[in-house]
Amino acid sequence: MVILRERFPILGKKTYLNNCSQGALSTDVQEAFQQYLVDWDEQGSPWERWVELYEAVRHAFAGLVNAGADEVAVTPSVSHGVSALASAFDFTGERNQIVISDFEFPTVGQVWHAQAPRGAKVVRIPAAGNSIPLERFADAIDERTKLVSISHACYRNGAMLDVPSIVELAHRKGALVLLDAYQTLGTMPIDVKQLEVDFLVGGALKYLLAPSGVALLYVRRELLPQLSPTATGWFAQANIFAMDHTTHVPAPSARRFEGGTPPVPSVYATLAGIKLVQSVGPARIQRAVRELTAALKAGLMQRGFNLVSPVDPGRHGALITVRSHKVDLLVKWLAQENIVVSSRDNNLRISPHFYNNLDDIHHLLDALSRHKALLV
Ligand SMILES: Cc1ncc(COP(=O)(O)O)c(C=O)c1O
Repeated sequence: MVILRERFPILGKKTYLNNCSQGALSTDVQEAFQQYLVDWDEQGSPWERWVELYEAVRHAFAGLVNAGADEVAVTPSVSHGVSALASAFDFTGERNQIVISDFEFPTVGQVWHAQAPRGAKVVRIPAAGNSIPLERFADAIDERTKLVSISHACYRNGAMLDVPSIVELAHRKGALVLLDAYQTLGTMPIDVKQLEVDFLVGGALKYLLAPSGVALLYVRRELLPQLSPTATGWFAQANIFAMDHTTHVPAPSARRFEGGTPPVPSVYATLAGIKLVQSVGPARIQRAVRELTAALKAGLMQRGFNLVSPVDPGRHGALITVRSHKVDLLVKWLAQENIVVSSRDNNLRISPHFYNNLDDIHHLLDALSRHKALLV
């Protein structure tokens, strides 16, 4: 399956397999940036238009995860979204524990640890290799758990957690669930209603093909009235244009988790990126990515390399990782051959998107064969 390759000029120059860090630049996103400059130049300060586009991003995010637009905050980063959410929690009672897993991106764990002076206690569930047994969640979640904060797919090894079972465990004990879907958003269908998560975060710069500066926080509608963030700003007010510094009246919607002036250039680009992803469709992207990751895993195992990600396609996302004992050197040597990948820990991270093809995978596998001394 080869999809829209011609829209990504970098693919003519490089074998680009680093979507877990940053999506490839498309001509659509380039044009969106140009349009921002044209609008700024021709109209000076078209804030009405910019706020319109900002709202369009909210609706686009909502469409991607099957949420209502009123349940989506557009934030500058996942860190901001999780911090705003944390600021709305009260940790002074009995229910003051945040359960996190060993698969979390540092920023999420760091935000929860930062709540310690406010009474929060972080309970970390250790991984067993490339998985975290469900029993460990069952043992850790109890009546003291306020929130279970988990990643959909781990940024270090691509492994996916069993979200429905974890959500069930959490809800049975009266705890809420936050899902960090940064590594899955744009690679597969995601439905917050089906998953029954209470909160979800993700961002635009990886598989949504956009630049940095735009992320989302989904908050289940029923929870909004009881959550009033203290990390706030004028774009979080019920009426942004009230310009009233004598009071704080948060928006009734998830916009109450927002802060200050939006990153307008990134808003233009994010709309273009999400439009491109939606034009292919998350289900079709999932099929394309699965075909590529299947060929990749098979090629890695045939060569006797140490696959770190799970073999089962239902247990990993778009990111496949392989062990290397000199991973920084390997990334550098591959870059010299115009192959772009990345690393975490001792894992080489290879992350295709819909615009990659089997030639990209075979080209990388051939290069890895040449550098096999760094892999086995
Ligand atoms: C799973 C996951 N969460 C969060 C982030 C980053 O969040 P932020 O938008 O705060 O930089 C990343 C970035 O690599 C990630 O992979």
